[in-house]
Amino acid sequence: MPGPALTIDDLKERARRRVPRMFFDYADSGSWTEGTYNANEADFSKILFRQRVAVDMTNRSLATRMVGEDVSMPVAIAPTGLSGMQHPDGEMLGAKAAIAAGIPFTLSTMSICSIEDVSEAIGGKPFWFQLYMMKDRDFIANLIDRAKAANCSALVVTLDLQILGQRHKDLRNGLSAPPKINLNTMFQLATRPQWCLSMLGTKRHTFRNIVGHAQNVGDLSSLSSWTAEQFDPQLNWADIAWIKERWGGKIILKGIMDAEDARMALATGADAIIVSNHGGRQLDGAPSSIAALPAIVDAVGDRIEVHMDGGIRSGQDVMRALCLGAKGVYIGRPWLYGLGAGGQKGVTRALDIIRKELDITMALCGERDINNVGKHNLVPGTF
Ligand code: FNR
Repeated sequence: MPGPALTIDDLKERARRRVPRMFFDYADSGSWTEGTYNANEADFSKILFRQRVAVDMTNRSLATRMVGEDVSMPVAIAPTGLSGMQHPDGEMLGAKAAIAAGIPFTLSTMSICSIEDVSEAIGGKPFWFQLYMMKDRDFIANLIDRAKAANCSALVVTLDLQILGQRHKDLRNGLSAPPKINLNTMFQLATRPQWCLSMLGTKRHTFRNIVGHAQNVGDLSSLSSWTAEQFDPQLNWADIAWIKERWGGKIILKGIMDAEDARMALATGADAIIVSNHGGRQLDGAPSSIAALPAIVDAVGDRIEVHMDGGIRSGQDVMRALCLGAKGVYIGRPWLYGLGAGGQKGVTRALDIIRKELDITMALCGERDINNVGKHNLVPGTF
């Protein structure tokens, strides 16, 4: 494909050609029938903009705030596990690209690079950390303390993974964490020599958020069995109070898809919620995030910041979510495609594409300030 990538889809195709199939599919898949995964993207295109003309479109601004932090546009990088398998040092490169772009980077508990690696890569600047609740509370307490020590400025607590949804592609490809080498996976690696060579160049230890910190996980070989049994099926709202007390900073609750749950989240005193179905990777058959957003904004939007993620593939999609009341959005696959396609430059490209599309879309809707967009920019009956 000649020339620079013009769309997130261009980056996706480049990543597909560069990254071994099991890791590309890990990003590019949803649970069971992938119905919710597909709806996340498809439902955006039904929402239409009101085109306005002869409005002064000079001096435009996308700058705003998310949980009190200045952002150059209301787009954050979503936490994604194993990102370092798309490209060596992937989380460090993603964080660098995000900092340079003036947007938040969220590091997953299940990252390849550790909290400390990422902090070092961005010279101690603040980033966000995503927490999964594990049964081993000592490990969680220690992880929270490490995030604080690394200058993380918000904790994103993911609530929708008490039990793992099944992705058929991962099972068929033999994906595990850490990846196991067998004939199938060897073949997948052999067809991507460039990726293999680049991985040899990385000096970082993998899964250091967990390995060496959780009980009985002294090395990589014990990691996959530990992970399989550690997600806590008993997670409940009282645990949020415990996390809040230990953390003492800003908290964002991720995985809210229901107005009842949004009210429960509000009662915890969290700073924001993320309307999210985990990118269609958990409850297949749940509505798309963009379809779930309006009812949640109606229920709690005047009392807590509502963010959303799932299916955003363009600046137009960001604009649609903002018009429906989201104060910020997160991108998962778009940053992973950029990373797989071209490392830090690829992530920067993904952010540039989305920024430009958002800016032009806002202007053609007759708006100059992203803080002023709303339902009035949408065609009634299309949302
Ligand atoms: C995720 N997601 C996720 N969420 C989370 O809280 N912790 C995690 O470790 C992960 N891991 C993860 C891996 C991969 C490969 C993907 C694609 C997603 C969900 C993620 O934060 C976000 O909710 C979705 O990715 C948003 O949907 P889009 O933008 O990918 O469509």
